[in-house]
Amino acid sequence: MTDERIATGINGLDALLEGGFPSGRNYMISGSAGSGKTILCSQILYNGVYKFSEKGLYVSFEEPVEDILSDLNRFDWKTAPYLADQSLKYMHLPMLKTEYEDNVFQLLSVIMKEVKDHGYQRLVLDSLPALGLVYKDYNLMRKELYLMLHEIRKTGCTTFIITEKASTDLGHTRFGVEDFLAHGLVLLHASHTYRGIEIRKMRGTAHSTDVNRMRIGDGGITIYPGDHPY
Ligand SMILES: Nc1ncnc2c1ncn2[C@@H]1O[C@H](COP(=O)(O)OP(=O)(O)OP(=O)(O)O)[C@@H](O)[C@H]1O
Ligand SMILES: [Mg+2]
Repeated sequence: MTDERIATGINGLDALLEGGFPSGRNYMISGSAGSGKTILCSQILYNGVYKFSEKGLYVSFEEPVEDILSDLNRFDWKTAPYLADQSLKYMHLPMLKTEYEDNVFQLLSVIMKEVKDHGYQRLVLDSLPALGLVYKDYNLMRKELYLMLHEIRKTGCTTFIITEKASTDLGHTRFGVEDFLAHGLVLLHASHTYRGIEIRKMRGTAHSTDVNRMRIGDGGITIYPGDHPY
């Protein structure tokens, strides 16, 4: 196994990950509404193209791209040239009113084509619950999710899958199964008094499972390793 990693370029985060996420694998990013999942994943993509010349694709199954981009405009990121040349791309594939409804593999093929045609190295899928809405059969969802992640992995792309955790949930993620299908699980914590990030699982990486303080400012997210809110 190679020990190549993709750096996030996010202050404080790479230090928690021995330099970054092991590349070419699948990661779950979990947290309650407003905990910063979209910002974190967008910053990983933006830094990817801006600092490391790695192309990034963000697929939104729910929120329109215009809404996401207008929220991100608050940050002092210079995304325009990358969006213009598509080295950074936001794509809306709405799940509820589409032809994909009966065939998630059709949707997968759209994503795979983008990844292959443009050579995207970082991929974000937002979100798993939105994708899961089309499934009535939980076991089928689990099986297709497994196959989908397996296919995406063949491209060598490093994939971040956003999932959600209600603050009252006992499990870490919405369906409780995704963590077994992924190589790592990052939990975002948010309350009215603090924000935090926790590396719950990261195969092949020595990491602590402490919650580290996280701040969202004009430049986006900053992590303070060793500053534990509790
Ligand atoms: N410019 C900013 N400065 C500080 N905090 C911000 C800024 N922009 C957004 N935030 C904070 O980030 C939160 C939104 O983050 P984000 O959209 O990444 O959450 P999310 O986990 O993706 O939520 P959802 O599950 O609803 O999609 C806001 O609720 C706000 O608290
Ligand atoms: Mg979001």
